[in-house]
Amino acid sequence: MTLTTSLSVKLRELLELISAMRLCPNGIRKKIIVYLGWKIGDRSVVRWGINYPAKRVFIGRDCLVAAHTFFDGAGSVTIEDNVKIGPFSKFLTTTHPIEEKAPRRVFGKDIHLDTKIEFGCWLGASVMVLPGVTIRSGCVIAAGAVVVKDTEPNGIYAGVPAKRVKDLAPSAAVLAPIYTQPTIVAQSAHRSSADADYDGFAGNR
Ligand SMILES: CC(C)(COP(=O)(O)OP(=O)(O)OC[C@H]1O[C@@H](n2cnc3c(N)ncnc32)[C@H](O)[C@@H]1OP(=O)(O)O)[C@@H](O)C(=O)NCCC(=O)NCCS
Repeated sequence: MTLTTSLSVKLRELLELISAMRLCPNGIRKKIIVYLGWKIGDRSVVRWGINYPAKRVFIGRDCLVAAHTFFDGAGSVTIEDNVKIGPFSKFLTTTHPIEEKAPRRVFGKDIHLDTKIEFGCWLGASVMVLPGVTIRSGCVIAAGAVVVKDTEPNGIYAGVPAKRVKDLAPSAAVLAPIYTQPTIVAQSAHRSSADADYDGFAGNR
């Protein structure tokens, strides 16, 4: 590896580190993400703790990617407009053929599959989306679900593997602003730092 290549790898690692920090403003993180090669649309927010192994990530407009989301593999992850992703979710894009003899996974045999979340979905916390899966528009994926195959549009999916538990009415394809005043206000007179943080994410980009 030449000195120049080695410096550019280190620069990349440094930028990944900075953007993963909670104290990095969302706006700076967004610039770093774009510099690192991802695409991200207007008014979309990516929060801290993001894990970067995937190089091909395309995020539309008015999206929220909450903290500690993990993007893995050499396939692409496409997140269409107006999608909200809960914290600690994982998007996988690479898998491996299972060998007949042990070891079952041999290094160097990779299958890259594109993963996609269509318009207007909400994924709860700790959702895992397997390689090649498309979550069709208007779906809600319940916290902790593992989505192993494509969904149909406008439904709630829950569990491992995720199954459709409820139908939802199709929603209008309107780009709503990412932040509206919360309808449930804190009951306590003492606002926690989490409240302040939630209030802040729209302005801090
Ligand atoms: C999906 C969700 C929004 C509930 O939607 P809902 O319309 O109120 O659905 P219900 O509570 O009526 O649940 C429907 C069924 O799914 C099941 N279910 C709901 N959430 C589930 C989950 N996370 N895992 C497994 N099953 C779940 C319910 O037990 C119920 O099953 P039943 O019909 O056999 O009783 C909620 O469960 C959820 O996961 N919210 C995400 C919260 C979160 O992650 N917040 C932080 C990130 S933004």
